[in-house]
Amino acid sequence: MTTFELVLVGFGHVAQRFVTLLEEQRAALARERIAVRVVGVATRRHGAASAVRGLDAAALINRVARGERIGRSREERPAADFIADVAAANDAARERRLIVVETTTLDITRGQPAIEHVRAGLASGAHVITANKGPVAFAYHALAAAASRADRRFLFEGAVMDGVPIFNLVRETLPAVTILGFRGVVNSTTNFILTAMEQGQPFAEALSEMQAMGIAESDASLDVDGWDAAAKTAALANVLLDARLTPRDVERVGISAELGRPAMEARAAGRRLKLVARAAREDGRITARVAPEELPDDDLLAGLEGQQNAIILHTDLLGEVAVVQRGAGLTQTAYALLSDLITIGRDVNGPRGLRGRPPARRARSRARPDRTL
Ligand SMILES: NC(=O)c1ccc[n+]([C@@H]2O[C@H](COP(=O)([O-])OP(=O)(O)OC[C@H]3O[C@@H](n4cnc5c(N)ncnc54)[C@H](OP(=O)(O)O)[C@@H]3O)[C@@H](O)[C@H]2O)c1
Repeated sequence: MTTFELVLVGFGHVAQRFVTLLEEQRAALARERIAVRVVGVATRRHGAASAVRGLDAAALINRVARGERIGRSREERPAADFIADVAAANDAARERRLIVVETTTLDITRGQPAIEHVRAGLASGAHVITANKGPVAFAYHALAAAASRADRRFLFEGAVMDGVPIFNLVRETLPAVTILGFRGVVNSTTNFILTAMEQGQPFAEALSEMQAMGIAESDASLDVDGWDAAAKTAALANVLLDARLTPRDVERVGISAELGRPAMEARAAGRRLKLVARAAREDGRITARVAPEELPDDDLLAGLEGQQNAIILHTDLLGEVAVVQRGAGLTQTAYALLSDLITIGRDVNGPRGLRGRPPARRARSRARPDRTL
């Protein structure tokens, strides 16, 4: 059994659900020979707390719910310094047992300070898992290289389609397959609003529902203006198509109340209006776009209701491979973090051995001097 020590950077909806899910899944984690202890929590306005022997995370959730601070102020110290301090205070980093869980607010302009949090974690000897799209949308290649140099994992399954495997699916189960492009519906809030407007529900009312459920981003314009989908498109393109995009490089058209009538008319005509994200490699360069598209009824994406998402991968060897997410919510996002944690646990624990090793290391260890085909 390995006890992983967690530093939670960001302690909002996602991190709190992750903490309760850890407790609920304690038996499943034990089967993986994983135990966990929260040794640090940092927020922006609610202070920070750390304890080498572990914090009572449930008590911290109650404090935040009551509007109280969880610990001392860290106004003068950025969270990156907090990560370094916590890492220095115990042995877990050296033993590959420290994990930074990054769930701060998405910054759509630069992906910061989340990128610095990831860098600080890796530089301190921690693995980093995140549900924040910023780091992978703005700095994937640099952070993957930093993780490889540090011999630690940087995992981000929750950045796109919550816990439904998309990055894991390609990395773990599609060896030798080249992804040529993808298209999908990747933002739950806008699909919910478009579906609601087809039924005549006003835009603002549908958006309020998503905000009340904690599904919409704290700044709703990130969803409705297409920025969240653009960040996911950049993240997917960077990882799956080896692109060097940021969300600003993705051509982007959002949704608004004016689409209410076209959405109803499309539905009446047997078609559906969807906010479609797409990217492809064309003539050696990557093009990426997010925009409302009217789809024929028999298109897989047209069948998505409410908060449902889907991605269709275009591949060289398998044709189209589709992944559909029928239920989205905080549990699914928290599950993404849980699955990343278990990936690291399997990596560290062995003897399941090479299953979770970073690709570069695996390639090196398998290199042979012969020329046998
Ligand atoms: N909610 C979802 O369903 C969902 C789904 C997929 C991905 N995500 C992503 O997951 C992340 C977290 O989402 P959420 O819904 O949990 O957000 P949230 O409820 O707004 O929580 C954000 C947390 O980050 C903290 N924070 C912000 N800036 C910080 C900084 N510079 N240093 C330290 N802490 C900082 C906040 O502290 P204060 O409260 O003190 O300000 C808060 O604890 C976001 O990147 C989001 O895009 C969310």
